[in-house]
Order: sequence, then C-alpha cells, then structure tokens
Amino acid sequence: MADQVRSARTEGIATITLDNPPVNALGADLRRGLMAAFDKAATDPEVRVIILVAAGRTWPAGADVREFGKPPEAPLLPELCAAIAGSAKPVIAALHGTVLGGGLELALAAGVRVAAPGTTLGLPEVSLGILPGAGGTQRLPRLIGAKPALGLMLSGLPIAAARALDLGLIDAVSDGGAAEAAGRLARAYLAGAAELPTAAERAAGRKPDPEAWLSAVASARAGLGNPRLPAPGRIIDCVEAALLLPEDEGFAFERTAFVELVETPEAGALRHAFLAERHAMRQPDLDGVPAREIHRAGVVGGGQMGAGIAVALLGAGIAVTLVERDQTALAAGLARVATIHERAVEKGRLTPEAREAAWELVSGATVLDALETADLIVEAVSEDEALKTQVFADLGRIAKRHAVLASTSSSVDLNRIAAATSRPEDVIGLHFFAPASAMKLLEVVVGAGTAPEVVATGFALAKRLGKIAVRSGVCDGFIGNRILTAYRTAMDFLLEDGASPYEIDAAMRDFGFPFGPYQGLDLTGLDIPWARRRRLSLRRDPARRYVAIGDRLCEAGRLGQKAGKGYYLYPEGERKGVEDPDVLRLIAAERQARGVVARKVGAAEIRRRALAAMANEGARLLDEGIARCPSDIDVAMLAGQAFPRWRGGPMMAADQAGLLEIRNELRDFAREEEAFWRPALIWDELIKNGLTFADLNR
Ligand code: 3HC
Repeated sequence: MADQVRSARTEGIATITLDNPPVNALGADLRRGLMAAFDKAATDPEVRVIILVAAGRTWPAGADVREFGKPPEAPLLPELCAAIAGSAKPVIAALHGTVLGGGLELALAAGVRVAAPGTTLGLPEVSLGILPGAGGTQRLPRLIGAKPALGLMLSGLPIAAARALDLGLIDAVSDGGAAEAAGRLARAYLAGAAELPTAAERAAGRKPDPEAWLSAVASARAGLGNPRLPAPGRIIDCVEAALLLPEDEGFAFERTAFVELVETPEAGALRHAFLAERHAMRQPDLDGVPAREIHRAGVVGGGQMGAGIAVALLGAGIAVTLVERDQTALAAGLARVATIHERAVEKGRLTPEAREAAWELVSGATVLDALETADLIVEAVSEDEALKTQVFADLGRIAKRHAVLASTSSSVDLNRIAAATSRPEDVIGLHFFAPASAMKLLEVVVGAGTAPEVVATGFALAKRLGKIAVRSGVCDGFIGNRILTAYRTAMDFLLEDGASPYEIDAAMRDFGFPFGPYQGLDLTGLDIPWARRRRLSLRRDPARRYVAIGDRLCEAGRLGQKAGKGYYLYPEGERKGVEDPDVLRLIAAERQARGVVARKVGAAEIRRRALAAMANEGARLLDEGIARCPSDIDVAMLAGQAFPRWRGGPMMAADQAGLLEIRNELRDFAREEEAFWRPALIWDELIKNGLTFADLNR
C-alpha cells in the first residue's frame, strides 16, 4: 500500500514519512514503500539530505510480529537498513514515541538521530525469544560500546531519550518536535553552517577497544540465566562477532542466528503470549461503547486485598476512600496501604514524591454513605455471601447513578450479588490477584445483567492500572483459579500415589515454573484453600477422590511460610524452605490410612499429568462459555499463575504436545478417576475437524 509511505521534497531536502498506524510496525508494505521512496531520494540529484519521520503516535515500534513464521517478503528489513546505512547522502532519523526493535535498527542505519522529548528507545527482541535481526547486534555495540549494547539487548528494557543521549545512541534531544529539529539541522547543513555525516563516515571514525569489548562479552556469558532460552546466548555471540568478523560476515552471522531463533518453539510461544495479551484486551463487541469516567473510587474492606487494590487505584491517580467497619479496622487498613507504599519506595519502584502524591488522594471512612460520590466502588470484604449481598444492597441505595459496583469475590456467585441491588446492570466482578498492587492479571467478570458500558469500564480501568484484563463468565473460581485448582488436584493425586511434594515441585520447576505447586501453597498459605474446602465440603460428591494430605498439614499447624512450616520447613528467617522428613512421614501415614500402596512416579509423568489437567480444565471453561477463547486462558495463566511464558500457556502447550495425544492420556487417566479426568467435549470436536486450540483464537 503506497500510502503507508509519503515523500516530499523542498530545497534539497527529501522528507520520507512512515504512516502505518497504530505503531508503524515495519510490515512488508511499509518496507516496500520505504525502499522505493528512499531509492528515489538517493538517486534524485536535487536531493542532498534525507529525513525519515513517522506520522502518528510513534516511530516504528518494531518489525511486524504477525509476519514472523510466515515466508519473508522482500525487501527484508536488514536490506532496507543496509541501503540507508550505505547512503552517500546524509540521513537524519527524526524519532518520537517508542523507538523499539526493528524501529531502533532502522534509526541506527541513519547517520544522525534526533529524538523528541519523551521518546523511549529499546531492543525488546529478547522478550520475543529472538534477537535484533536487522543489524542491531552489529551497529549498536559499534556505536555505544559492547557493554551498554549488551545491557540493552539482554534486558530488552527501553531507556529514556536523555539516557540514550548520554550513551551516544542519539545525537540530540529536540526542544519541540523531532521532525522540525531535523528540518532545521538539514537547512543549516545546506547553508554550510552544520556538519551532517553519513553513517559510513561516522563508522569510519570509530575505533573499538577490543579488550573492553571481549571482557563485556565474557561477563555477559558468565551471567547467562535459563539455558533453555537460546536468544540471550545468541545475542552475545553476535556482539562478539561484531568485533571479530569482517562487517559483512558479522551481518550474515546475525541473520543466521535470527532465522534460527524465529523458528524455535520458545520464540513461537513468546510471540503467542505477546499477541494473546493484546487480543485479551480487545473486545470487539464493545467497539464504540464508551467507558464510564472514573475519578473517585471507594474500596470496601481494608484487608490485604482491599489495601492492594487501593494502592493500584492510587497509582493511576484515582482518589480512594477506604471503608472499614470501625476505626480500629480502618486504621489497620490504612496502615496496610502505607506499608505497601513503603516497600515500593524501599525497592525503588515508587519515588517518595509519588508516594506523597498518592497519599494526598486517600481518605478513610467507617460508613458506606461516604461513597455516595464515588464513580467506582470495589467491594473486598471477606468471602461471606450474606455479608457481600448486604454490602451490595446498601451500595445499590447509596451509590450515585451510573457508579460501577465491583465485587472481588471469586466464590460467591456474581449474579446473586447483583440481584441484591436494584441495579444489576452496574455490577461487575473485578477479580484481582494477590498482591493486587503488583500482579498483572485482572479478570473482568461479566454477570448476566452487566451493562456493556460497565464491561468497557472494567477493561479501560485495567489498562489504566497497567494490568492485563481477561474476560470471564460467572463460575466458581473463574479462569485462573479453576485451572490452578485442577493442577493442584492432579498433583495431590500423585502425592497420595507415591510422589513426594519435593519431586513434584522439582518436576514443575524443570517444566519452567519459577516454583512448584507446594512451594506456591507454602507461599500463599495453606489455610486459604483449607477454608474453602471446608466451606464446600457439604457440596462435595462423596464418590470423587479426595486427598486429605493438605488438611492433615493444616491440622498440624503447618500453614506455610508464615507459620514457619508447611510442605517445607522454614528455619528462623529463611524464606527458602528445606525438605522435612516429618512431612514425608505424615504423607506416608495418610497413604496407609487410605490403603494406598505407594508407587514410583517419575518427573515426566508429573509434567504430563499437570499439563493434561490444566489444559482439560481450560477446555471445560471453553465448553461452558466461561472463557472467550483459548488464548485468554493462556493469558490468565501467564499473567496470574506464573505459567512459563516461553511455553505460551497451557492451551498453546497442549497444541504443541498434540491434541490427540493429550485426549488419549485424559481417557487413560479417567479410568482411575472418571469425574476429574473425563475429557471436555471440545477435544473431540477439534480433533474430528483437524483443528487446534489456536484455530479458535482467530
Ligand atoms: N507488530 C505488530 N503489531 C504490533 C506491534 C508489532 N511489533 N507492536 C504493537 N502492535 C499492535 C498491537 O498488537 C496492538 O494491536 P491491536 O490494536 O490490534 O490490538 C496495537 O499495535 C497497539 O499495541 P498496544 O496495545 O501494545 O499499545 P500500547 O500503546 O500499550 O504499547 C508499544 C505500544 C509499546 C509499542 C507496544 O505495543 C510494544 O511493546 N510493541 C512491541 C514492540 C516490540 O516487541 N518490537 C520488536 C519487534 S521484533 C523486531 O523488531 C525484530 C527485528 O529485530 C527484526
């Protein structure tokens, strides 16, 4: 499409404008248009300087991620960058917005870079399991030195324009717009009042320090983390090659590494995660539906969850009134808010000034009437249906017209909560994950009567809070916790069958989780799921297998890290648990009481059953219409349950393992415990039609 690139020529200056909203991704049409426009300017005898600018909110934020894995279309980005870098005429890149990935590589090909204030620059390819593949690994270390270049490429994190100027990554931060500044510079050059080197001239003047370069490479290699993620190691190899190989060979070396990495399952999974997160936030049925404005919020309940939510809201500049039942509880709630802020300041995640500004926005009250002006009221009281419905009945009377009434409950039916008010259309579920101030996931739970604009408000709020929202229907536990429960149940079966919690945790860490299910339970506390099990005990089907090992641990006071012992033992001040023979004895006694003869359970079986249980619960969520699509389930598990990102989530992992294989395993397992392992209906439907979960995301 020719209109993705526009050219204009005035007084010897060719200005080429890139225009491919929303982020000017460097897709094939844009590359073709830019190559043609650049060739024209390069060969036009009237043109003496070329300026590259971008229309809209940003300079290109990278290659088009959706093109990866498809046959490449000419011109490739490295060819385009090579043409610009080889220009005999000076080229100025006028930068603004988010100059990322291939976008930064395009800028690196220019001789001069000017950035508008507020520009951020980075090479995030590593987070997609790949490396800068358009010359970035070669040009960047030559420009700013190997150490900072490795820092940028291995972290994937963007830097601000001022820092980029310090590093020599850009040549100037403009006063106003970058395009205007580039124009002034070009005119000064044409008037003989300024120098404008080409990229080749600048490169010729540089002399690398081989010792410093190789030492940066060696220390980066020594610091390599997860050996199953190949991209960081390949980035380091490329930077080394930039010093040791002739220039052309260095570029070819980078290209080979890029092409190999793009094809890896890890890169496929990371790309899926990137696109799935954006897909989760997009709700086509809400296009054109306005979100309600949120300036003031109320949070009812100042426990750990309520305080965390208050901090999240304050961080987005929303004024918060915290409501508790009496002054003592209120003081404790406000103290929790202060503590979360304090820790954030200590860890450098919040400046003292930002904390002061947030604190200005907090108030407290002991009566719900204080919330009559709030635009949003989030209920975070304890999981007690009578209490919650009472709060909502009161809020229905007190809250102003069009206030959004949100419940954080994951076990009390949202539709029953909504029915307690006179205005079910205003009621929505906002299921935060602890700690709510930091965890990325927010499940937006849509009730039978929730108005579309209230749903739109939930998604807009998530974006404002910097969270990733996933839409869920009403059920017990929603998406993330239902899958977590299925995972734990499958692992509990194995625990009773003969595995130790330590073997299970090690097997799941080896799969890629940062911690195993029993370490996770110790961290969050065994008493919370215990209380839930007791609450649900009357509804439990006695024919279903029930593993009581967790109950026995709780009865023995082993509530997890906070009690100094759970599945692991935590000697004074230790956060990392040690294995405890008492736990193994307790499990053995429980097996004996149930008449279970322990069998050998291997790590491969643990991982297979864990994945089958998670994917099958995900499939049930699709059968029931609770989750919108498989990629939403993946997002919930990545952002809320620490599922390894480079495996893409349970539904993608199931696709990669093969649906037929997993369905057959589920059938095998179902012979032991039909109710839990019975395959959801959707497996057969997909297999019969030759489809995968990925096909349902489109
Ligand atoms: N390719 C394709 N689409 C992209 C894209 C990309 N690189 N970056 C963003 N988009 C799309 C998103 O999918 C979304 O689409 P939608 O509206 O249809 O949902 C839209 O642009 C807006 O994106 P966000 O919702 O993320 O908008 P934000 O304002 O929150 O963030 C951003 C903007 C900071 C640019 C963020 O989108 C981002 O980080 N993008 C990815 C940057 C990146 O990883 N670049 C490297 C790509 S790999 C590469 O360049 C290889 C090279 O070395 C050869």
